[in-house]
Amino acid sequence: VVDVRKLYGDTEHFTFDPGFTSTGSCESKITYIDGDEGILLHRGYRIEDLAEHSDFMDVSYLLLHGELPSRSEKLAFEKAITYHTMVHEQLNYFFRGFRRDAHPMAIMVGVVGALSSFYHDSTDIGDPHQRMIASHRLIAKMPTIAAWAYKYSVGQPFMYPRNSLNYAENFLQMTFGVPAEEYKVSPTLARAMDRIFILHADHEQNASTSTVRIAGSSGANPFACIAAGIASLWGPAHGGANEAVLLMLQEIGHKDRIHEFIKRAKDKDDPFRLMGFGHRVYKNYDPRAKVMQKSCHEVLSELGVDDPLLELAMELEKIALEDDYFVSKKLFPNVDFYSGIILKAMGFPTTMFTVLFALARTVGWVAQWKEMIEDPNQRISRPRQLYTGYAERPYKPIDKR
Ligand code: ACO
Repeated sequence: VVDVRKLYGDTEHFTFDPGFTSTGSCESKITYIDGDEGILLHRGYRIEDLAEHSDFMDVSYLLLHGELPSRSEKLAFEKAITYHTMVHEQLNYFFRGFRRDAHPMAIMVGVVGALSSFYHDSTDIGDPHQRMIASHRLIAKMPTIAAWAYKYSVGQPFMYPRNSLNYAENFLQMTFGVPAEEYKVSPTLARAMDRIFILHADHEQNASTSTVRIAGSSGANPFACIAAGIASLWGPAHGGANEAVLLMLQEIGHKDRIHEFIKRAKDKDDPFRLMGFGHRVYKNYDPRAKVMQKSCHEVLSELGVDDPLLELAMELEKIALEDDYFVSKKLFPNVDFYSGIILKAMGFPTTMFTVLFALARTVGWVAQWKEMIEDPNQRISRPRQLYTGYAERPYKPIDKR
């Protein structure tokens, strides 16, 4: 019998870090988070300033290129993005292969992965021109694909992009417009949508971004890598949390029941967690959640929506932030806590919430993927493991098992 530790040789050492809580996987110049202070910077700029003064195209350019664009750079960038907003007409048929009641995130994983079959040239990741075109295509086509995932689920015809509209307006037009009537995009909704995109654009090495980097580290086609990121984002512990928050608030239903749910969240024998609370890195208020909360009030009042869920969410936040359990574990609201309420007010069904997150995060994924490919020290990601299975043993014939 062989001691399995010897299989790899006693001289090999590696760190054992489940969940990678203390492992830095790369160098990056894109995003900085100070989790204790609740600070988020993209290329050195505060997220609050970007949300207030920039639009999503500015932020996309910043993440991709490292600087905010000048007027002419921005115009050229917008032109490059709008040039790619259409998807190949054959994708129409691909969509039709999905079940009518398919979750739109399932459609996103499939359709974005399928783009790799349309852009096989993008697999030439050593060519900077191909890398840039793939980046532009991904950013440009995500709103079209996301809107079509929605249209498919409600049985309405697909709407084509209109390049006279800006990024957020175009997405709203493709989502809520119908061919039978002229759709007038509300400036309030478009600005709110754009801000939501900014707040979700990048967040350094989270699960989905790390997934994109790991998939891309083998030299895979970028469209397939982004599909892997979408799959990772889908889970309720990550991007799926905004959908889960709304479902949780609906389940709580009334202020009188908040204490019951807080009690459940603290009970170690109950798998229930307060959705939209807690973060791997932030041990303070998530700065994006603050902007989102403010935006939530503005959007609801401008739309004239009086949603009791907002009041419920604020009460829940207040009670949780006064509770010893949440205080001692430094559990604060994260970006997803308020986003669902805004999205609901804007008319999106809950199943679309994570899709919108994926749409916005695409620029972060692409910027991180590009940075990785362009890193001269880039190597394939290949973590080690602590083997806890059998040592070598003799083969057992079937009649002895
Ligand atoms: N409700 C109740 N308890 C919680 C919560 C919560 N939302 N989040 C963490 N805790 C507790 C854990 O039970 C754990 O307690 P213990 O120390 O007694 O074991 C402690 O706080 C630390 O939590 P971990 O799960 O170890 O922290 P981790 O960094 O692995 O997880 C995560 C972070 C996944 C975000 C977690 O806080 C969570 O599940 N939150 C709810 C889901 C959510 O909102 N996700 C969105 C994240 S933001 C984003 O992806 C955009």
